[in-house]
Amino acid sequence: MNEVRGVISRNKGAPVELTMILVPDPGPDEALIRVQACGVCHTDLHYREGAINDDFPFLLGHEAAGVVEKIGDGVDNVAPGDFVIIAWRAPCSECRSCRRGRPWYCFASRNAKQQMTLEDGTPLSPALGIGAFADLTLVDAQQAVKVDAKAPPEVAGLIGCGVMAGLGAAMYTGGVSRGDTVAVFGCGGVGDAAILGSRLAGARKIVAVDIDANKLEWAKGFGATDVVDASRTDPVEAIKAMTDGFGVDVAIEAVGRPETMLQAFYARDLAGTLVQVGVPDPTMTVELPVLEFFGRGGALKPSWYGDCLPSRDFPMLVDLFLQGRLELDRFVSEKIGIDGVEDAFAKMHRGEVLRSVVLL
Ligand code: APR
Ligand code: ZN
Repeated sequence: MNEVRGVISRNKGAPVELTMILVPDPGPDEALIRVQACGVCHTDLHYREGAINDDFPFLLGHEAAGVVEKIGDGVDNVAPGDFVIIAWRAPCSECRSCRRGRPWYCFASRNAKQQMTLEDGTPLSPALGIGAFADLTLVDAQQAVKVDAKAPPEVAGLIGCGVMAGLGAAMYTGGVSRGDTVAVFGCGGVGDAAILGSRLAGARKIVAVDIDANKLEWAKGFGATDVVDASRTDPVEAIKAMTDGFGVDVAIEAVGRPETMLQAFYARDLAGTLVQVGVPDPTMTVELPVLEFFGRGGALKPSWYGDCLPSRDFPMLVDLFLQGRLELDRFVSEKIGIDGVEDAFAKMHRGEVLRSVVLL
C-alpha cells in the first residue's frame, strides 16, 4: 500500500481538497503509475459539480503522463521505467463491439480492479477510471500506453483526453481529408485540437467559430484559415459566405450546447458531416425539422474520445510532435502545482487558459 497526495472532490459543488490517499500495489493485469503531469479538464469540474454521477468522493485528474512504477502478474505491454500516457479507453477485446472489430467503441473498457481509498478506507471513484491528480495512480495495464520518453510529460499528458478527443473528432469521426472545408464551433482545447487535426488531414479551409476574440486569435495559431466571432455575426451565414454559398464538408461542434449544434447542422454543405464532440448536459434538447435532416443528407455523428484507439494513436501523435509536425505544446497555457487545481477551474471558467497542467 502506498500513501501519497491526491486531489479529491468530497461533496457536490464543494472546492476540491488536497489530501493523503492510499494506492494499492498492482495486482494481476494492473500497473502502478508515477504521475508526472496531469492536465485540468472540464470533465474534472463536471465531476466536482455532480454532473457525471453521485459516486463521491472522486479522485480527480485524467489527462496524464508518467512512468510505470510497478506492474502486476501477467502484464506484458509495459515494464517499470516505461514512459506512458494513461488512456481512459482500454479495449476489453471481449465486448460485442470489440468482437466485431470496432475496439474504438469498446463498451466495457478496462480499469484497475482494486480500489484507491482515503486513509480511513473510504473507496475513491477515479475520474474516467484514472484519478491522476496524485503522485501514484493504479490503472489497468492496458490503460498505460508506452510512448517516446523524449516528449515532455505536460505535452504527452494532454494527449490522454482533450487533445485526442479534438484531433480524433476531425480525423476519425469526421473523416476530414485533403481538400475538405471544415468549420469548428468552440475554440477551447478540444476545438483547437480539431483545427490541428483538420490541418494535419489536409483540409483546405478551416473556419474557427467562437464568441471570445482571444480564442479566435489562438485558433489562428493552430491553423484556422478564417475566423468568425459568433457574438457579432451569424456564423451560419458567415460560413456560407466563405464557401461559395454552400457550407462546409465537415462541421465540428466543440462547445456542448444545442444552439451551436444547430449552427453546425445548418453550416454544412449538402451531404456534409456534423461531428458532435462537445458534451451536452442532460437537460438539453434541439428541435429539427425532419425534412432538413433528410433533405441535407450526410451524417450526424457523436464523437466519443475522438473514436481513438490509444495504442495506435498516442505513440503516433507523440512522434509527430517530436518531429515538429504537430504543435501540441501550444495547448499548455500554464504549469501549476498539485495545490492549484481549484484555481485552474476558475481560470478555465473565465476562458483564460486552454489547459493548466499540474506537474508532480
Ligand atoms: N458559440 C461559439 N463558441 C462558444 C459559444 C457559442 N455560443 N459558447 C461558448 N463558446 C466557446 C468558448 O468561448 C470556449 O472557447 O466554446 C469554447 C469551449 O471551450 P472550453 O470551455 O475550453 O472547453 P473544451 O475543453 O475545449 O471542451 C469543449 O468538448 O469534450 C467536450 O466536455 C467538453 O463539452 C466540452 C467541449
Ligand atoms: Zn478530459
